[in-house]
Amino acid sequence: MGIGLRKPKFELKTPEQFALMRDAGLVVAAALEQVRQAAAPGVTTLELDAIAEACIRDAGASPSFLGYHGYPASICVSVNSEVVHGIPGPRVLESGDLVSVDCGAIVSGWHGDAAISIPIGEVSPEVQTLSDVTRDALWAGLAAAVAGNTIGDIGAAVQSFVERQAHPYGLVVDYVGHGIGSSMHMPPNVPNIGTAGKGPQIVVGMALAIEPMVTLGSAEVDVLSDDWTVVTDDGLAAAHWEHTVAITADGPVVTTAFDGGSEGLGRAI
Ligand code: MF3
Ligand code: CO
Repeated sequence: MGIGLRKPKFELKTPEQFALMRDAGLVVAAALEQVRQAAAPGVTTLELDAIAEACIRDAGASPSFLGYHGYPASICVSVNSEVVHGIPGPRVLESGDLVSVDCGAIVSGWHGDAAISIPIGEVSPEVQTLSDVTRDALWAGLAAAVAGNTIGDIGAAVQSFVERQAHPYGLVVDYVGHGIGSSMHMPPNVPNIGTAGKGPQIVVGMALAIEPMVTLGSAEVDVLSDDWTVVTDDGLAAAHWEHTVAITADGPVVTTAFDGGSEGLGRAI
């Protein structure tokens, strides 16, 4: 125990910096909404990338994924058994596909990062429920992102939400959420499993990206030979939902939700 000021372990944002993160989050929300409206049978994943990039640039923001560790596009588009980091290309979407779209934008140096899973045409009830469970597990995690809790409380909320479902879903643990702010990926890691009360303390000024990845079967994943695309081992479908959340004295503010998260947090609490 020291006396005096300790350097915080994690980047803590001022209200002004949170305001810029909110601007970036709203750009991401708008881009994902345009992609959601455009995604339909017959559309290619590369067309979705163009829509998102135009939306980001028209807002005066920049796409954070483009060029990140050499990543060649502005969004990730992961179809069916692809979990995350699918690269947009000539693939044509078909009715029954579940398409996870991940998007990041930068405004004045500050980041937003979010993902949604989109049903194309008619999807099976089990695939729709997979997406709904993943989305609601995210909201359970976001509701736990309050000052005084720990990172383990977030993982425990996500994990217990998924494990209380009747279907034995796979909860992917090889990829995790993350701190976010002046970079897309910063400490701390935010796992989708955890023990309540364990892990780093959550304090006002932190911002986190929470991003559960849930599968219909095995939680084991592989990376394809393109060195990006993460797929389920068993070939069954996966869903991915993500939001960026700012930890304020008044509670979590979901920067990448149009309403700041009020509806989803209301449901989750
Ligand atoms: N946005 C992803 C995440 O949620 C990372 C995308 S990797 C990139 O952490 F290379 F596509 F940017
Ligand atoms: Co992320």
